[in-house]
Amino acid sequence: MSQVISFLHDKGGCAKTTSCVNLGFALWLLGKKVLLIDTDPQCNLTDTVDKTVHLEAETTIYDWLHDFKPGEMRSLPIYTRYDGLDYVPGSHSMSNINAELQLMYNREHRLSNFLDTVDPESGAKIRNMYDYIFIDCAPGGETLMNTNALVASDFVIVPTEAGIYSLQGLPRLLDYIEKVRTQLHCPVSIMGYLLVRWNAQKAISKEVKAYYSNEEEVKAPLFPVYVRECVRCTESVAYEMSLYEYSPDCTAADDYMRVAEYLIGRKARPKTWTPVKWGQIANAAFQRFTKEREA
Ligand SMILES: Nc1ncnc2c1ncn2[C@@H]1O[C@H](COP(=O)(O)OP(=O)(O)OP(=O)(O)O)[C@@H](O)[C@H]1O
Ligand SMILES: [Mg+2]
Repeated sequence: MSQVISFLHDKGGCAKTTSCVNLGFALWLLGKKVLLIDTDPQCNLTDTVDKTVHLEAETTIYDWLHDFKPGEMRSLPIYTRYDGLDYVPGSHSMSNINAELQLMYNREHRLSNFLDTVDPESGAKIRNMYDYIFIDCAPGGETLMNTNALVASDFVIVPTEAGIYSLQGLPRLLDYIEKVRTQLHCPVSIMGYLLVRWNAQKAISKEVKAYYSNEEEVKAPLFPVYVRECVRCTESVAYEMSLYEYSPDCTAADDYMRVAEYLIGRKARPKTWTPVKWGQIANAAFQRFTKEREA
């Protein structure tokens, strides 16, 4: 049984997609089977994971949510990036989905229905085929699409910038999740706040950390690993690659790997560990995949 986790925040540009993609890749490098779902009309996750296939994709998350009728057999919009790392591409048409969902029966549960669909090849439900299913959400809080993501999820990870605007939208987000829990009877909860763009030299980073460390106030724990400010994050987005493909030995790649290790319950690595190792493991995995594809 997989863990389904949404990356959600009211606020735009707080590293939802960066965290969703790179944590997904990190878990995959640790041997986990991962599915990444792009629900944002901006399609940033799809562009980063696999732009070429995205452009040729026959079906996307939009086709499924828009046309799907329960019991109907149709090809699933699931594509493989690397063996064990799959994704559901987004679509720019998702900008219409909130209005369209309004008119649909079961409108809050359509993404959840998708995860309960049986894969004709394996005979298993999609939600049982992976260790982790990550849903990248669009900014802007309370929309029907984001409600679908929450209803489908066990947990939410809230990426939180270690900067001045980090408290913006938090009360709204907490209210929203509470409403989905109580009014739609879904057991979703916040797994934790993930501090990103962390800079130990800046006073504001420390203030934000102190605020989010008060679990009673913010209603969920702070992840014990912070993702440092790292220029490779912006560069990797420009090159449409994950950090592990673009610069596996950078600080943010190391931090996301430590968050992944924390998620699967591994103990902290010794200080003698060298991040270059992930470069070697990632390269071997990518090369193996390329050879298999060519064969
Ligand atoms: N640790 C980091 N250090 C430096 N830059 C970062 C870091 N994490 C993310 N960024 C940059 O911040 C920008 C926003 O990140 P991202 O697209 O992941 O945010 P988002 O929350 O998904 O945005 P949106 O709300 O538009 O979907 C990107 O340019 C990304 O490269
Ligand atoms: Mg995004």
